[in-house]
Amino acid sequence: MPSTSVEPCTFALFGALGDLALRKLFPALYQLDRATLLHDDTRIMALAREAGTPQQHLANIEEHLRLFVAKAQIDEETLRRFLARVTYVHVDFMNEADYLNLAEQIGPNEQLIAYFATPAAVYGAICENLHKVGLADRARVVLEKPIGHDLASSRRVNDAVAQYFPENRTYRIDHYLGKETVQNLIALRFANSLFETQWNQNYISHVEITVAEEVGIEGRWGYFDQAGQLRDMIQNHLLQLLCLIAMDPPADLSADSIRDEKVKVLKALAPISAEGLTTQVVRGQYIAGYSQGKPVPGYLEEENSNTQSDTETFVALRADIRNWRWAGVPFYLRTGKRMPQKLSQIVIHFKEPQHYIFAPEQRLQISNKLIIRLQPDEGISLRVMTKEQGLDKGMQLRSGPLQLNFSDTYRSARIPDAYERLLLEVMQGNQNLFVREDEIEYAWKWCDQLIAGWKKSGDAPKPYAAGSWGPMSSIALITRDGRSWYGDI
Ligand code: BG6
Repeated sequence: MPSTSVEPCTFALFGALGDLALRKLFPALYQLDRATLLHDDTRIMALAREAGTPQQHLANIEEHLRLFVAKAQIDEETLRRFLARVTYVHVDFMNEADYLNLAEQIGPNEQLIAYFATPAAVYGAICENLHKVGLADRARVVLEKPIGHDLASSRRVNDAVAQYFPENRTYRIDHYLGKETVQNLIALRFANSLFETQWNQNYISHVEITVAEEVGIEGRWGYFDQAGQLRDMIQNHLLQLLCLIAMDPPADLSADSIRDEKVKVLKALAPISAEGLTTQVVRGQYIAGYSQGKPVPGYLEEENSNTQSDTETFVALRADIRNWRWAGVPFYLRTGKRMPQKLSQIVIHFKEPQHYIFAPEQRLQISNKLIIRLQPDEGISLRVMTKEQGLDKGMQLRSGPLQLNFSDTYRSARIPDAYERLLLEVMQGNQNLFVREDEIEYAWKWCDQLIAGWKKSGDAPKPYAAGSWGPMSSIALITRDGRSWYGDI
C-alpha cells in the first residue's frame, strides 16, 4: 500500500501527451507509485489540447506505460491504482477560460505542482494564466530544458516565470542531476577524505567527460537543428557534470550551498579566444555510416532534414577553469550523436608519482585514473598500479581496477531513472537537484561566446562517419596536449 511519508499533491502535467511525458514522466510516476512513494491522495492531471475524448487519451497513456516500463515491473494492481489517479483535462495553454475550468477542479488546500513539458515559449503564458485563476500562489513550477537558446532568450523565459513564481518554488530540470551515479559524485568527493585531499592541480593532470549517444536524431530533426549539440548537451548536462567535479566543498547539502559553489565554477570558466576556437574546439556532423552493423543515413539525409544545415551533432572541447584549484588542469569535454555506443563517463587522470623508480619503458602507463561511469553499467572504478604476478615478471607493473559496479553490488536494487528521483524531490520540496537561474545564465554566457565565434568564422562542422568517435580533429585536440581519450574506447 502507498506510504504516507511524502505529502499529497496534485501533479498538473502540461504537455501530457508529448514524447517526454509518455516516455519518461508517466513511467517515472508509475515507478514512484510502485515503490509506495506516492501519497494515497496524490492525483495526476494530464493536461493537453489534443482532440479526442479523455478515455482515448487515458488509453494512450496506459499503452505507453506498458511500452516504456519493463514488463517485469508492470504489476496489474499497481497499474490500476496508478491509472485511477490520472484524469485528463483539455487545456489550451493560451486560453484563460480553460484555466478557470482547471481551477474549479483543484481545492484550496491542495499542493499544486505544475510541470511544464511544453516548449519554453509558452511557459510565461501558462504562468500568467495560472496566476489569473489564483493557482500560482502556492504552486511549485517545474521547467523542462531547454530554457531559451541563448542568454537573452533564457532571461526572457526566466523573467516571465519569475513574475509569478519566486525562485524557491521554481524547479529547473537537468535530468543528469537525477542520475544515480551523478548523485554518487557528491558522496564520493565529500565522504572520502582520500579523494578530497588530492582533488586539485597538485595531483590531477586532466579530466575527461564523455557523453556519447549511439542514436541519431530519431524524428526530432526540426527541434534538434535549431539547437545543435552545444546547446542540447554541453550548455546543460556536461557543464553540470563539470561543476560537480570542479566545485569546492559546499558548507552543507542545502540547495543554495551547492548551487553557490557550482556558480563559482561557471564564472571561472575561461572564455575561448578566436584562436582557441580552432585549436581547442571541434564541431562535427555525422555522415552516413553504420550503427550496430547496419547502414544508417547521415544527419543531412535524416527524415525532414534540410540538406544545407550546418548544425553540429558532435562537440569536443578543452575547457580551462581559472582558479587556484584547477589552474593548468584541462577539462576535455566530448559529446555526440551516432557514436559507436551509448556511454557517459568521467575520467579523472591523476599525475605521475613525483619521483619515478621503475623501468623507464613503463613510465607512460604510470598514473591512477578514477573512472565514474554514469551509463551503462553505472559504477566507479579506480585504476591502480600493481605488480605483475610471477617469478619471471620482476617489477613489471600493471594497471588494474578497484571496482564498484552498482548493479553487482546492489544486485537486488533497480537503479531508478533520473526522473523518478527528480519528481520525488519536487514533491518533497527539495531544490538541491535543480538548477538555479544564475547557473543557467552563466552557462549560456560561456556557450554564447562559442556560438558567436563559430558564426563569425563561418566554418562548417567537420564530417564524421556514423558509428565512429567523431572527427579526426577531436583526437588531435587531445593528442596535441600529449594525451589521449581514455581507452579510446
Ligand atoms: C536530452 C537531450 O536532454 O538528453 C537529448 O535533449 C539526449 O538530445 C538526452 O538524447 C540524453 O539523455 P540520456 O539520459 O539518455 O543520456
